[in-house]
Amino acid sequence: MSGVAGPVGPAEPEAGAVEAPEPAQPGVAYWRERARTLGARAVVNVDHPDEADLGDVTDGHREALWPLLAAELTGDEQVVLDVGCGTGRLTADLAALVDGDAIGVDPVAALLALGEPHARVDLRLMTEGRLPVDDDAVDVVFTSLVLGGIPAAALDRTVAEMRRVLRPGGLVFLSESVADRPEPGHWAARTVDDYRALLPWVTLREVGRFDDAGDGIAVLAGRV
Ligand SMILES: C[S@@+](CC[C@H](N)C(=O)[O-])C[C@H]1O[C@@H](n2cnc3c(N)ncnc32)[C@H](O)[C@@H]1O
Repeated sequence: MSGVAGPVGPAEPEAGAVEAPEPAQPGVAYWRERARTLGARAVVNVDHPDEADLGDVTDGHREALWPLLAAELTGDEQVVLDVGCGTGRLTADLAALVDGDAIGVDPVAALLALGEPHARVDLRLMTEGRLPVDDDAVDVVFTSLVLGGIPAAALDRTVAEMRRVLRPGGLVFLSESVADRPEPGHWAARTVDDYRALLPWVTLREVGRFDDAGDGIAVLAGRV
């Protein structure tokens, strides 16, 4: 398996530029523009200070998420899907955690193009809201800091797609901002109960919470 090089390469971000672009158009168009202006930093909260190393931010996410995910695994998982994987900065770890394979999907080709090729990772472009994955094909649907950035009109489709590709008995593991502050144009302020209502086909437990640049991130997990 290999990383996919998309047709569009991101522009080099200006030194020190971490200003999020204005969301002229919410949804995928916004994330394309953000990738163009911020490059690999597009996938993390721009409230991380300019000098924060992207690797350090990612290490913080790893430390927060992986013990919680490991506690939810039964040991028989073989394939993990990373929905909205961006550059795939977390996707290879998912393959290692299950000692299997990981598929990363994202609608922004420029972000996928920044992904490092990895033998156990397959990065795929998502088009027209469809996950490029067969029915019941994955043991774990993982998504991190993605659903909050999807406009309400597209969200039901995304969630239905997550359900379609997850095998019976599979694990849903998601981490999303539940920050109680006015939402910027590109991000929805939602609560844990909002996420539970959005995925009524799985009983989600809050298994953890951590801070990301001042925002509270809830970690929810459940099996179908
Ligand atoms: C804040 S970034 C997080 C990326 C990645 N999960 C990470 O933690 O590095 C949000 C990601 O969601 C992706 N995205 C936007 N709309 C999406 C959709 N409808 N379905 C799946 N992913 C989407 C964006 O392209 C972007 O890569």
